[in-house]
Amino acid sequence: MTIDLAVIGGSGLYNFPGLENASRHSVDTPFGAASGDVVIGDFAGRRVAFLARHGESHTVPPHRVNYRANLWALHSLGARRVIGVNAVGGIRSDMGPRVIVVPDQIIDYTHGRYTSFCDVEGAEVRHIDFSEPYTETLRRQLIEAASSAGVAAIDGGCYGATQGPRLETRAEIARMKRDGCDLVGMTGMPEAVLARELELDYACLALVANFAAGCGDEAEISIEEIFAHLAAATAEVPRILGALLKT
Ligand code: HPA
Repeated sequence: MTIDLAVIGGSGLYNFPGLENASRHSVDTPFGAASGDVVIGDFAGRRVAFLARHGESHTVPPHRVNYRANLWALHSLGARRVIGVNAVGGIRSDMGPRVIVVPDQIIDYTHGRYTSFCDVEGAEVRHIDFSEPYTETLRRQLIEAASSAGVAAIDGGCYGATQGPRLETRAEIARMKRDGCDLVGMTGMPEAVLARELELDYACLALVANFAAGCGDEAEISIEEIFAHLAAATAEVPRILGALLKT
């Protein structure tokens, strides 16, 4: 099966609006079950595969997502390029709520997740280059797609991946800022590295839902506001991906 683009939807994106002639695929993987069925359909005249990272009813928390099964399922259905859509908190002052960012670097603070397909008894150990964690050509295509769709998107930024599901303390965010993180999210890793192990082209479309702890004016982060901002930013996603599919 030819798939032009696979999309992994994060919080706020549980289906792909406008997907026509859709069929559902439940894939058995050597790593267990994916977050749900992969939905394959037509969008902008191309074949698109969609998978809801947290399940279609948002029942899988970030630290329990079976990232290996998700990537394996998409790959086995024929996907070769993948966009991960991720809700994030903004650390940098120009990355406030509803801003869209296409990051170019990652720092991984997660723990206890399976980070490699070779993390299996008897598997051959493979070391891979991860200097540039995202596929630059796909990143460029995403930036150009956003621009041609008339949607503002910031080119570059460092995604700090945290364990969740709780949000971070102010001290944790202050440390991440000193480390060079511009954004914080709970699902960027190990997704990106697993995509690289499968030699998939992979880029991240990060939707800022809130200022990270201590970066905005509020003493506390409102979860209701996070979802309201996320809904607004998510509404732009089909237009960006539609433009991407035309390239
Ligand atoms: N921290 C981590 N993940 C997030 C945040 C945050 O502030 N907002 C949305 N996802």
